[in-house]
Amino acid sequence: MLTETPGSVQEDLRFYECLDQFWHPVAKESEIGDEPVRVTLLEKRLTIARINGELVALDDRCVHRGASLSLGAIEDGCIRCPYHGWAYGSDGEVIEVPANPAVSESLTVALNRYQCVARYGLVWVSLVEEPVFDIPAFPHLDDPDFRVISCDPYEWDCASVRRLENYVDFGHFAWVHDGYLGSRDKPEVGVHETWREDGALRCEATVVEPPSGKMKKHLSGLGDLITARNEYWIYMPHSVLLDRHFEGGARYVLFMAASPISPNRTKSFWFIGRNYALEPDADSEFLDFEWDILAQDKPIVESLTPDVIPSQLGREMYVKTADAITLGYRQWLTEISEPGPSQ
Ligand code: FES
Ligand SMILES: [Fe+2]
Repeated sequence: MLTETPGSVQEDLRFYECLDQFWHPVAKESEIGDEPVRVTLLEKRLTIARINGELVALDDRCVHRGASLSLGAIEDGCIRCPYHGWAYGSDGEVIEVPANPAVSESLTVALNRYQCVARYGLVWVSLVEEPVFDIPAFPHLDDPDFRVISCDPYEWDCASVRRLENYVDFGHFAWVHDGYLGSRDKPEVGVHETWREDGALRCEATVVEPPSGKMKKHLSGLGDLITARNEYWIYMPHSVLLDRHFEGGARYVLFMAASPISPNRTKSFWFIGRNYALEPDADSEFLDFEWDILAQDKPIVESLTPDVIPSQLGREMYVKTADAITLGYRQWLTEISEPGPSQ
C-alpha cells in the first residue's frame, strides 16, 4: 500500500505491513511483575500482564472509554481499568462493571487477546493466530559451554527491516567500524554463499579483522589480524543469530531480535554469548565493545531514507558479493509480503 505524507515522497509500506504475520519480542520477562505493562507493537498498544500466573497480551484500550489498562491493576485474577473500574478476565472478557453490576451479565464485548509466550527471558507476541514461522532458535542460551548475557534493549528511529539489514551488511564494516570489525585499508567483501534453511536465511563468511577492541582482548596471541568464520542465521522477518568461530576454538555469539514499534521506530532485544573468558568480571568488556559498535551504527541507520525499504527492489542498488545477503533478504521479504506467504 502507498500512503501520501504531506511534503514527502510516497512511502511504500508493503515490507512493514507484512510484519503482523510473525512473532515479535515486546518486553523482557523480568519487566512483567505485579502490574500490567504497556508495550507498542506495529503501532498497536498492548498491555502485557500476568493473571493467575499466566502471561497475557490484551488490547491496551478499555472498551468503555478507551483508558489504558496498563495504568490499571491486577487483582483477584482480573485486570481492572483505572478509570471506572471495569474488570476483565485473562481472556479479555468484561466480568464486572462496578457502576451497574447487572450490566456485566449481558455484555458480550471483549478485549482482543493475542498469543503471548515467554522464551529466552523475553515476552513474545503474535498478533495473528498462526504466525508464519516459529520463534527463532537460540540454542546457545542452554549450552553450558557458553556464558550468555541478556543485554538491555535499545530503540532506534529506523524501520525494523533496516535494523536487520545493518546487522548483516558486510560492506559497512570497513567504514563504520574501521579498526573494530574491519579496516578501510581492506574494504573489499569476498564472495559468500547465502541460502534458505528451516525458516532462516543462512550465510557463512570468513573475515579477517583488526585485533583491536575489548571484545578481542581475550583472543590476543592470535596475531596482528584475527581470522573468524562467521555463521549467520537470519530468521524472518528480522532476528539474527551470529556464531563467530575464532582460531583455537573460541566462539562468540550475538543474538538480536528486532521489534517493530512503528514504521520508523524499532526496539532491539539482544544477547551476547561466549565460550571463553567466562569469568563474570569480563562481561563489561564485551558489553562495552558492543555498545561502541551500536553507537557507530545508530546515526547512520537512523539517517537512511526512505524509512521503509521500497518493495520495488530496483529503487536501490546492490553491489555484487557485498550486498548478496541484503538482496537475498529482500527477495524473501518480497515473497512473504505477497498474498499466500512462502516458507
Ligand atoms: S474507561 Fe475503562 S472503565 Fe471506563
Ligand atoms: Fe554495524
